[in-house]
Amino acid sequence: MIRFLLNGAPVATNAHPFTPLSATLRDGFALTGTKIGCEAGDCGACTVLLDGAQACACLVPTAQAEGLRVTTIEADEPLLNQLRAAFLAHGAAQCGICTPGMIMAAADLLRRDPVPCRQAVEDAIGGVLCRCTGYRAIVEAVLDATPHSVTMPGAGAAVGAAIARLDGMPKVLGTDRFGADAAPADALWLRVVRSPHASARFVLGDLDAARVALELHAILTHADVPGVNGFGIMPHLKDQPVLAEGLVRFRGEAVLALVGERDAVARVRDADLPITWEVLPAIHGVEAALAEGAAQLHAHAEGNVLVHGHLACGELAGAPAAAEAVATFTTGFVEHAYIEPEAGFATPTPNGVAITACTQAPYMDREETARVLGVPEDAVRIIPSACGGGFGGKLDVSIQPLLAIAARKLNRAVRIIYSRTESMASTTKRHPAILHARMEADSDGRFRRYELDADFNTGAYASWGPTVANRVPVHASGPYRVPQVRNRTRAIYTNDTPAGAFRGFGVPQAAIATESLVDDLAEQLGLDRWEIRRRNAIGHGDVTPSGQVLHASAGLPQCLDALKPDWDAMLAEAAAFNAGNARHRLGAGIACMWYGCGNTSLSNPSRMRLELAPDGTLTLFNGAVDIGQGSTTVIAQICADALGLPLDAFRFVIGDTALTPDAGKTSASRQTFVSGRAAYEAGRALRHRILQLANAGDDARLSLDNGLLTITDQAGPRILTLHEPLIAEGHYDPPTTSLDAKGQGIPYATYGFAAQAALVRVDTALGLTKVLRIVAAQDVGRAINPTLTIGQIHGGIAQGLGLALMEEFIPGRTENLHDYLIPTAGDVPDIKVHLIEDPEPEGPFGAKGVGEPALVPTAPAILGAIRHATGVTIRQVPVLPHRLWEALHVRQLQP
Ligand code: FES
Ligand code: FES
Repeated sequence: MIRFLLNGAPVATNAHPFTPLSATLRDGFALTGTKIGCEAGDCGACTVLLDGAQACACLVPTAQAEGLRVTTIEADEPLLNQLRAAFLAHGAAQCGICTPGMIMAAADLLRRDPVPCRQAVEDAIGGVLCRCTGYRAIVEAVLDATPHSVTMPGAGAAVGAAIARLDGMPKVLGTDRFGADAAPADALWLRVVRSPHASARFVLGDLDAARVALELHAILTHADVPGVNGFGIMPHLKDQPVLAEGLVRFRGEAVLALVGERDAVARVRDADLPITWEVLPAIHGVEAALAEGAAQLHAHAEGNVLVHGHLACGELAGAPAAAEAVATFTTGFVEHAYIEPEAGFATPTPNGVAITACTQAPYMDREETARVLGVPEDAVRIIPSACGGGFGGKLDVSIQPLLAIAARKLNRAVRIIYSRTESMASTTKRHPAILHARMEADSDGRFRRYELDADFNTGAYASWGPTVANRVPVHASGPYRVPQVRNRTRAIYTNDTPAGAFRGFGVPQAAIATESLVDDLAEQLGLDRWEIRRRNAIGHGDVTPSGQVLHASAGLPQCLDALKPDWDAMLAEAAAFNAGNARHRLGAGIACMWYGCGNTSLSNPSRMRLELAPDGTLTLFNGAVDIGQGSTTVIAQICADALGLPLDAFRFVIGDTALTPDAGKTSASRQTFVSGRAAYEAGRALRHRILQLANAGDDARLSLDNGLLTITDQAGPRILTLHEPLIAEGHYDPPTTSLDAKGQGIPYATYGFAAQAALVRVDTALGLTKVLRIVAAQDVGRAINPTLTIGQIHGGIAQGLGLALMEEFIPGRTENLHDYLIPTAGDVPDIKVHLIEDPEPEGPFGAKGVGEPALVPTAPAILGAIRHATGVTIRQVPVLPHRLWEALHVRQLQP
């Protein structure tokens, strides 16, 4: 037995001495607040205290805990409670998967140093990765780890209140249940056998014999798929097999599913299985896929072109171009790197299956899984677990069809937890792109023409490739008035990892190209880079390249105006610093963006239901999955004010396809705008019914105390007695139109706008770039919850910084979090945010989407800053030190 003090109590375990302490805590003591993101010491999600010092529990053999004090997030200690309160107050927990590790790391510091400096906090949490927050709120919370009082806004005061997230307490207590945290005790385990080759045929041998020899319950192949062996985002294109049928198209593709007891499944090595491979030449990258004679990867995609996107508008008039910029840009695969790998379980039901798993799209999961099972959709129930980050990567199904097939076949509960490597190798990425762009301006610096030809590598299967190819042409010329635009895009099949949705759907890649050309034009014309953007900024009444008139909520000019003093200060700081430094150079960069909220020219409705029971129980049935962005809180704030009752009168049923109406997927920055509007409509509808029953006017006040609903107007207060529940539904589908052959129409009901400025320091001897400061100005329509809104902007900026400087997924080489680097607390600089509120009439209380827009301008602003610092224009991201060093030194040596 190994004995130690666990959260103050003596415990003993007969775990194997080498079992990681994280596993012993989770499996042996059911303390699942200690999270697992990598099992390799890279993410810090498993951080606990050993005799008061932080340690990654996944790296600590259980035997090493002998005689020590082990403290986990479940401990009830005053310091931890202060940190919990501060994390909630500062919005430092978004998805919450990193939160236990963060709090433990912070507790280690605060015990040693109760009043730490900012640098000490960054150092203390430096080993814990957060993909959501951008760290600044976490640092603020640790610096402010004091008791915080919680006050909830009264009736009518929820919108605009910076309240703590309503679902936050379980996150800071470590009791939130993520995909890996719970499953029936008798659940079997599933492990996927994946292709080691990017392109190969394979033949399976005697699987029955293998199953017996390996003591498994089942080895599932494509023949075990009872319905359609294919999934995919597009209704007409289910091109990715659940289990491959003799042919694999990328490294990491699912071939077999092993099901059995945990140990039996874990023991199996891929070499134990009777698979004979015939390796085929693989096509990597779009240039190889488009080369003459390249093999065609899918019968439906001639020349490997999955889809074309197109937009054309305008005739040239007026003076000829005074400046012209032309360049080619390349971007690589980017991994979502959510800290929670995919996990969940399925249980058989009499006519189908119920799946509890992390997801961004429960209704899409239901549809896909039902098709794979060959059952009606209502035979599949999706119960989202807490989701430890998504960013687009959990929109496609991953584990759901496999779990469903196994649970049905074996009539047993079945669970799965992807390893970090499996998650990174098999799930979608940001599309790599090659972008040829051209832009012209007249002598006044007014843009007159923009052209783009861009190829996006969609990998082996379509996923969201068509969405990217269609969204980019609308946005590519940037949030500017450009009279003539011609954009062409293609999504190209290759033998690379499938690319899918990732915060921005291709717009961040296009913005890197466009904003660089804007800088080129400014330089040619001798204009300040802020000035040329302000001169061309699109605003109220302007017409977009797709022919849409922006009638309202187009706040880019206000964003740029808000940014101007910061921009001038950055330029002055850079000039002063550079005057005295040769090796280290400061540079300032600026970039703008716009982003359509919701699906491109497609219906994307949301429904919400609100129910007031006779006993006064008020319940919002909200099917929008909160992946950390805060939709549970924001939608409730909107609904509360629409109804006129305080937030604390509500209870919530969140995200269960059997209980909540379809709110659509959590993507495309749509939940605040679309589902928020549906919640607004539900609130208004219930209010209308109540007032009708009370024969009161719309200015009456409602209150709900001890189950009694009181309506007060000039006639005085009266209590409304209900004999049956009052149910109200809200529905909203943003008004859009389809795009014609030239890409003309109304693709989105509203757009987010933003501008960001970045200050960087470049070490020219080493090619190292340090981002010193970022100032963001973003038109959010209305900040329903300023804390959560700013949190989204911080998180987007951190991911944009990674895109610019660090992140490059290479299949087979960077499938873990020590070779694939994401920003740490020390990488994300000070961030200042100007919230611009140009209200959107379609949005609830004027609000529109925030999540994706925040990421788009960051990388181009950083690239512009590097150019300002060094004089070198980099057209490939990420700007890794060796790339910048080469650009600074090697190319300059060439004639
Ligand atoms: S799970 Fe231990 S460091 Fe990632
Ligand atoms: S809140 Fe840190 S990873 Fe999501």
